[in-house]
Amino acid sequence: MEIKSEINYSYLEYQGAPVRHEFPALHQDVFGKPLIYLDNAATTQKPWKVIHATNKYYVEMNSNIHRGVHYLSQKATDAYEISRNTIAEFINARQSKEVIFTKGTTEGINLVADCFGRYAVNEGDSVVITSLEHHSNIVPWQMLCEKRNATLKVIPIDENGEIILDEFEKLLDETVKIVAVSYVSNTLGTINPVKEIIELAHKNGSAVLIDAAQAVHHIPIDVQSLDCDFLVFSGHKMYGPTGIGVLYGKEEWLNKIPPYQGGGDMIKTVTFVKTEYNDLPFKFEAGTPHIEGAITLKAAVDFIREIGINEIARFEAGLLKYATEQVLQLPEVQIIGTAKAKASSLSLNIRGAHPYDVGVLLDKMGIAVRTGHHCTQPIMDFFCIPGTVRASFAVYNTMEEIDKFLESLRRAIKMLV
Ligand code: ALA
Repeated sequence: MEIKSEINYSYLEYQGAPVRHEFPALHQDVFGKPLIYLDNAATTQKPWKVIHATNKYYVEMNSNIHRGVHYLSQKATDAYEISRNTIAEFINARQSKEVIFTKGTTEGINLVADCFGRYAVNEGDSVVITSLEHHSNIVPWQMLCEKRNATLKVIPIDENGEIILDEFEKLLDETVKIVAVSYVSNTLGTINPVKEIIELAHKNGSAVLIDAAQAVHHIPIDVQSLDCDFLVFSGHKMYGPTGIGVLYGKEEWLNKIPPYQGGGDMIKTVTFVKTEYNDLPFKFEAGTPHIEGAITLKAAVDFIREIGINEIARFEAGLLKYATEQVLQLPEVQIIGTAKAKASSLSLNIRGAHPYDVGVLLDKMGIAVRTGHHCTQPIMDFFCIPGTVRASFAVYNTMEEIDKFLESLRRAIKMLV
């Protein structure tokens, strides 16, 4: 039976033109075929707005920040702090000092595991994560538990790739100091019920960290309404540069927990006897930061806000729905991750073919997807598979690209099965 999509989305527009015009990297051929970039959960392409902002920084204001009285240093410092304010507004933080620049999601999680861990996690305590986490939201907690003789507890998932909330409630007791959960699974696309998780954790007296790496550019995020204690994300997945990310933390927590790294900028006074740490947010930003990345991240946020995050969410939901409907027509294909609420990522396997072989064939047809375990080996173990082929969508993808992806999958099936 042919399932017809009811959706007829036009291209998303940016400043009156198809949004794709803003992304130079999309306009190239790969192996003689027009590039179809469906590896957005790994990293997104960058719009001219971000590329120009990077150039502008080096051409007009390159200098160190928070250190010089001279003109360029003031200019760069202002741009850096304006970016912090913009990000605070974007996630609705109460104050911009609750926004800490990091290298990315991984560093944000390591920072919280280390600093919160030293402050609050002791022998006999526990940390709760879910079975859906990226390795970056597993390993830092394992390392913490090992150091502090604490226990790592894991919320199970069901066959659809959804967290079993009843099981989460069973794990909650007075030993649980923090719950760390992804907003959206990078592998399955599952949107986790983070609001309920936060409420349940808080009732239990546990803090909550949200890994929003796969959410912040797909779903509107309001840290005050979520009431999360910490939230982390990366610049490069949201059309910004690599090597820059954000840790949001409630002021109370950021004041209570010890600093992460020692060095310049994170101090008020230093003697050989004692160091007085700086106020927020500088307490957590030791050393010369990724100045250009932080400044340029504002351009990425502006890009998202100019289209509108709700509009992006609506458009991408259409792409995912259409791709899912089309893939369901291929009997050889199994979708991995069938949660009711999903964002952006479609993981699948062709029965009888290794995901790596499918990925290589698609690549030769100009289609970039990610194959493998996607840094989520426990999910692969749960589904007893070596990996998946993951197509992940962004603002610049089109229905035609999905049609070509499907056509290429059909060709791959013919060659491999
Ligand atoms: N975490 C990124 C991904 O899912 C790299 O591909």
